[in-house]
Amino acid sequence: MAAGAVAPSAFADKPKTLAADMPDTSGRKIRFVSIGTGIRGCDLLRAAAKVPNGECVGTADLYTMHQKAGVEAYGKDIPTVRDYRSLLDLKDVDAVIVATADFQHRRVVLDCVEAGKDVYCEKPMSHNVADGHAMVDAIQKHKRIFQAGSQRVSNPIFKKAAEIVKEGRLGQINLIEGYTDRNSDSGAWVYPIAPDASPETIDWKTWLRDAPDRPFDEARFFRWRCFADYGEGLAGDLYVHLLSGIQCATGINAAPNRAFSMGSLTHFKDGRDFPDLIATLYDYNGVTVNLHCNQNNDAPGEMTALYGKEGSLIIKGNTLTFTPQDTHPQPEWYSLNGWTADLKKKYYDEWWAAHPQKYDAPLTETYTIPQGFDDSVAHIANFFRAVETREHVLEDEIFGNNTAIACHMANHSYFNHAAAVWDPASKTIKS
Ligand SMILES: NC(=O)c1ccc[n+]([C@@H]2O[C@H](COP(=O)([O-])OP(=O)(O)OC[C@H]3O[C@@H](n4cnc5c(N)ncnc54)[C@H](O)[C@@H]3O)[C@@H](O)[C@H]2O)c1
Repeated sequence: MAAGAVAPSAFADKPKTLAADMPDTSGRKIRFVSIGTGIRGCDLLRAAAKVPNGECVGTADLYTMHQKAGVEAYGKDIPTVRDYRSLLDLKDVDAVIVATADFQHRRVVLDCVEAGKDVYCEKPMSHNVADGHAMVDAIQKHKRIFQAGSQRVSNPIFKKAAEIVKEGRLGQINLIEGYTDRNSDSGAWVYPIAPDASPETIDWKTWLRDAPDRPFDEARFFRWRCFADYGEGLAGDLYVHLLSGIQCATGINAAPNRAFSMGSLTHFKDGRDFPDLIATLYDYNGVTVNLHCNQNNDAPGEMTALYGKEGSLIIKGNTLTFTPQDTHPQPEWYSLNGWTADLKKKYYDEWWAAHPQKYDAPLTETYTIPQGFDDSVAHIANFFRAVETREHVLEDEIFGNNTAIACHMANHSYFNHAAAVWDPASKTIKS
């Protein structure tokens, strides 16, 4: 390295552990009920049990075993019913946690807000664009607090990313990348069918309401993510998390202008509607966002990266790495390959004379989240606090609707083999 040039960016001593918000214990206890106590509903009840100012006073599910699992998950002997409407009639219930399948969100959320309840609804907020708009309208009409359930926006690592972006340390961001990759049956939603599943234990007719009628199908009940009548495939399951993290870090809170997807179904040919690999390029007003999710190779794992003129920010696992770009002036070397030795020497002598100062190597900073931190607990705590104070939540209906629209655009493009274009005037996707 020539005299005066700087070393490549160096690592700071060790990662700094970020401070995490603790659940707020002030204020009265928020009385809530939980609708849908399957995989995620049980997780949310376990998380909610750790938030001191919340109290679950009932659950509802259409499947007997999930009803019991929900009560077990909360760890208290709470009433559980099949028909959630009886829970919404309870006047002293403030809020509802909704963790039904995606295509059921609209009906359940509308019923909740019409009953005057605040709602925490799992991601993706909507099953299609029209559902999302109907939900936003109803939530705003009834002046309800709404939190969409992409919990990473409550993770201190994404808050740190937002802080670094806000401070301008990345400079102008023009490229963002994200992926979530897996390679297992479970990662591709081939979930086991519970041995007691039957039309007696599952109220299939009610479950299917708002979707095309069909005979009892246990695979569709347990593996609904694979089917377009109920889920949105990889985009609705996983892009939504990447996109909510990106929205949180960048402050972007809008639908993308365009999306173009491609992908393939190479392994999980089990009758599903969705590909097991999808890759999408989005245009967010000049910022290119490049996402993919693969269910056939987990080597890349999960990552979100923001690249700006002044720095790069990469979140992988529990660690955020920020590396400033080395933008100090440097003498040209490549194009001098064709210069004669005497002219080269003259160029370097003059260059170093004109740039006598030494530059410090830019330091890479790393941050980790505290051990044992659970962003679902923090996200529910943020919701309960807003229910009490009527202050804003971290992931309201506009934020949640925008991430969901981006997921729907990815699928629209994939299935139509054409770019999906967001039309803000009609609030619809056009090809
Ligand atoms: N935030 C996350 O990390 C995360 C993780 C997993 C799932 N999710 C989301 O959570 C939601 C639920 O997913 P899941 O994996 O738990 O699905 P699941 O099928 O395991 O559970 C859904 C439950 O909802 C019940 N249900 C459906 N309609 C109902 C109704 N009208 N009344 C009462 N109960 C009803 C079903 O019987 C079922 O038990 C989905 O929106 C999913 O995308 C989010």
